[in-house]
Amino acid sequence: MASFKEIISTLPRRKGWTDYDIFLYQGFWCDTFFIEGVMRAQQSFRSQPSDIVICSAPKTGPTWLKSLTFAIVTRSTFDDSTNPLLSNLSHDCVPFSEVDLAQSSSNRDPNNPLLATHVPYSSLPRSIIDSSCKIVYICRDPKDSFVSNYLFFVRILASKDMKPLALEEAFELYCQGVSSYGPYWDHVLGFWKASLDRPDKILFLKYEEMMEDTAVYVKKLADFIGYPFSFEEIEKGSVEKIVNMCSFENLSKLEVNKSGKHREGTPVVIENKIYFRKGKVGDWENYLTPKMAARLDSITLQKLNGSGLTL
Ligand code: A3P
Repeated sequence: MASFKEIISTLPRRKGWTDYDIFLYQGFWCDTFFIEGVMRAQQSFRSQPSDIVICSAPKTGPTWLKSLTFAIVTRSTFDDSTNPLLSNLSHDCVPFSEVDLAQSSSNRDPNNPLLATHVPYSSLPRSIIDSSCKIVYICRDPKDSFVSNYLFFVRILASKDMKPLALEEAFELYCQGVSSYGPYWDHVLGFWKASLDRPDKILFLKYEEMMEDTAVYVKKLADFIGYPFSFEEIEKGSVEKIVNMCSFENLSKLEVNKSGKHREGTPVVIENKIYFRKGKVGDWENYLTPKMAARLDSITLQKLNGSGLTL
C-alpha cells in the first residue's frame, strides 16, 4: 500500500495564503501541516457512541463553541471559578483530530467526550459518520470568516517574521475556493445537507445567531449533546454562568489567553491571543470594499441557491 507521503506527492498542490503549499485532497484544500494527519485520522480514528465532534471550517467560531461545549459537559465537575477553561485555551481542552488523534484514538482522555476537526463532512473518518456520536457544526457569514481568516494569517506570519499576501490576493483565492479546508461554501453545504438528512446526529449552528442570544443556544446545545440543564440549574443561573464564562470579553482577558501559547515547541505553535481578535458580527465592513462584499454575497447566493440555507 502506498505511504501517506507517496499519496501526498501525487496530489494537486499550489501555494496557499502563506509560503507553504496546500494540497487538493478529496475536493478540499488542505494545509501542509495537516494533510498527513487528516489521512491518518481517516485510516485509524475509531469514534465512540458517546463522542461529541465539533466541526467547523477555520475562523467560524470553534474557539467559542469548544469553550461552551466543554463548559456544558464539565459543569458538574467544575464551576465557573475552577473550570480548566480559565487556565487553558479551549483548543487545549478539546483534542484536534488531524493532530492529536491522528496517530491513535487511545491518546484521548476517557473522561472527555469532545473532539474537534476542520475536515469537511464527506471526508470525516468513517466511524464518525457511522457511529451514533453527535456532531455540532458552526458556520459564519463568509465575509466575516474571510476577514477573520486573513487577519489570523497576518498575525501568525508577523509572529514568525514572514510577509503575508495582500488582502486583495487572499480575497481572490478565497473567492476561487482556495482557502484552508475550502471551498468554504462546499464545507458549509456538506454539513447543512447532512444536518437535514440526520437532524438527530448533526446540530447546525450559525455564529451570528449564537451571538444574538447565546443562552438559547447553550440550552439547545446541551439538550442536543445529551447534557440538558435541569429545572434547578436553570433557576440558579447555570446557563448564564456558562455564557458569561465563555464570552469573548471574559476569555480574551484571561492571562492564559493573553500570554500563553498553543502547541508550543511544534511547527504550528500559535500565540493564544491570536485566537481572540474582536469577536464582532459585521467587522468585515472595516476591511472589504462594497464591491468585494457584493462579490462574496453573490457567490454565496449562487452556491447556496436551492439549499434552503442563507448566510
Ligand atoms: P474575529 O476574527 O472576527 O474577531 P475561530 O474560528 O478561531 O474560533 O475564530 C473565529 C472568531 O471567533 C474570531 O473572530 C474570534 O475573535 C472569535 N472568538 C474567539 N473567542 C470568542 C468568544 N468567546 N466569543 C465570540 N467570539 C469569539
